[in-house]
Amino acid sequence: MRKKLVVGNWKMNGDRARNLALIDGLKGRIPAGVEVAVCPPSPYLAQVQALGEPLGLAVGAQDLSPRKEGAFTGDVAAAMLLDVGCEWVLVGHSERRTLHGEGNGLVAEKVAVALEAGLKPILCVGETLAERDGGQAEEVVRSQVMSVVSLLGADAMARVVVAYEPVWAIGTGRTATPEQAELMHACIRECLELAGVAVAGVRILYGGSVTAANAAALFAQPNIDGALVGGASLVADGFSSICAAAAAAAS
Ligand code: 13P
Repeated sequence: MRKKLVVGNWKMNGDRARNLALIDGLKGRIPAGVEVAVCPPSPYLAQVQALGEPLGLAVGAQDLSPRKEGAFTGDVAAAMLLDVGCEWVLVGHSERRTLHGEGNGLVAEKVAVALEAGLKPILCVGETLAERDGGQAEEVVRSQVMSVVSLLGADAMARVVVAYEPVWAIGTGRTATPEQAELMHACIRECLELAGVAVAGVRILYGGSVTAANAAALFAQPNIDGALVGGASLVADGFSSICAAAAAAAS
């Protein structure tokens, strides 16, 4: 059985004092049997890593550069993320795809660089509302996934976590129903399997308005292996309840 994974994406939120309070609120509330990580903004990675480690809370970055080092102002390299204790890295979040023009090619390159460096990439995919309404949701998500498989090959892809985050569900309070999410997760798994990826161990997370209220129903679906949580990960009570729901689903 795949171990459930719950990841908090803090996006561009927090400061040293608020980070401290938030991690403090998670003390004793990271359940055994579930992997939990948070992704703070890069200036706080080292702080949050140090605070989180004794709690069993791993740390991830929200993005990485596809380059190794050099004259790339503003970019952060995979080796630097590892150096400050990162285990995970989000790649291709829809906010990066939309606001920073990241296309499938660049996203695939970043996933490859992360893996090579020894980081665990979480590949974010998901369709917009217009694409869903136009009946293209599966096709869009399949091509996002396949562009990475094509570059990486099936063996390396087995080490990637996929996060399905429908763009219309992010920060809108409009979560996909467990059935809608499960259908897409099953489609992603099938697409990976057809590409020769050893899918039994590949975790597929759901993201998009996950809260303590809807987490249990999502986690009950056979192909939903955890969550990528935005807004609700900024509140210790909400985030720890989602972690508890993951632990309950796993037991
Ligand atoms: P919300 O949980 O705030 O909808 O954000 C989801 C997300 O984008 C996580 O990466």
